[in-house]
Amino acid sequence: MRVAVVGATGMVGREMIRVLEERDFPVDELVPLASERSRGENVTFKNKSIPVEVLSADSFAGVQVALFSAGGSVSLKFAPQAVKKGCVVVDNSSAWRMEEGVPLVVPEVNPEDVERHRGIIANPNCSTIQMVVALKPLQDRYGIKRVVVSTYQSVSGWGKEAVEQLWNETMEIAKKAKQEGVDHWRKLHADVYRVDVGNRVLPYQIAFNVLPHIDVFKENYYSKEEMKMVQETRKIMGLPDLPLTATTVRVPVFRGHAEAVNIELRKDFCLEEVKTLLQNFPGIKIMDEVSRNIYPFPLMADGRNEVFVGRIRRDESLPCSLNLWIVSDNLRKGAALNAVQIAELLLAKKLL
Ligand SMILES: NC(=O)c1ccc[n+]([C@@H]2O[C@H](COP(=O)([O-])OP(=O)(O)OC[C@H]3O[C@@H](n4cnc5c(N)ncnc54)[C@H](OP(=O)(O)O)[C@@H]3O)[C@@H](O)[C@H]2O)c1
Repeated sequence: MRVAVVGATGMVGREMIRVLEERDFPVDELVPLASERSRGENVTFKNKSIPVEVLSADSFAGVQVALFSAGGSVSLKFAPQAVKKGCVVVDNSSAWRMEEGVPLVVPEVNPEDVERHRGIIANPNCSTIQMVVALKPLQDRYGIKRVVVSTYQSVSGWGKEAVEQLWNETMEIAKKAKQEGVDHWRKLHADVYRVDVGNRVLPYQIAFNVLPHIDVFKENYYSKEEMKMVQETRKIMGLPDLPLTATTVRVPVFRGHAEAVNIELRKDFCLEEVKTLLQNFPGIKIMDEVSRNIYPFPLMADGRNEVFVGRIRRDESLPCSLNLWIVSDNLRKGAALNAVQIAELLLAKKLL
């Protein structure tokens, strides 16, 4: 089949092409699409170099499925045009996620929702995806009363320019260190590691720093990312009133998001049963043996497909409550893999 990837030169788009190849999705022809800036570039798919085409309304003729990952405005404009041409769109941006009639799907959690699609299926936010995969088996067994989440999100979640910012700042700090010598470091003062590389896409320096700011702030003082976690979780899990509160934080990590999640359940639980439920749920891998320093972290999750769960422990301050540490590669399960899994689901249900 003819498969288009919109945003094929971006962090997520490139990963989508890798995942399509790895999972042997039945692609007869890959159509990589990007902006005017990528004219003359190529992508590699199954050892073949394929020229990137500039996205236009005509790009979707004969395309059966299009994986969009080029930002909200591109999706708003071009997804309906692709649908008009008979194409099914799996959209990674936030443009359509909360739209009535657009399913928001994590295949392990709400696969049945794809059946209600009218051309566009939305892929949730990266931090939401990895959390709901772990919440689902707990909701099914005990019921969830309330969730409190704090995230530690990598710069690749904000696209290639944020990755460049962290890289450039780190290199600049290393250059400064080399020039100044080792004694400079002993001062351990911000002058040593404060740099200005210009062209910043994050509001402040991210190297050697942590920012409680992802996306824009809303009238209620929460960030848009925090509100996405609340609203998207409710929609995916079919729990419109689920009490959930989030603090989303950018950390100087290139790839992989981590989350500290506190969950109040409706019934009491046995910790061993919780571990078994999580371990048996598709897509989850438990890494939880603190006596041997075994727990997940972004560096070990890099390039992996699983949602890793560790530090599983009772919240001793509240009955029926639990703490989890959840880590996943935001470009894989948080974006590209989930989108390809949605396409696979459509295929399995003969909806393509
Ligand atoms: N990164 C994540 O973890 C993550 C997770 C979930 C969802 N998402 C969503 O996925 C989307 C892309 O994210 P990303 O991290 O891959 O960003 P990125 O690395 O900045 O890449 C953006 C891609 O979109 C293309 N593009 C931008 N404007 C375009 C236009 N007007 N017409 C056609 N193509 C255009 C770019 O093409 P050029 O190279 O030609 O500019 C590039 O291929 C965003 O909506 C983001 O919110 C990202």
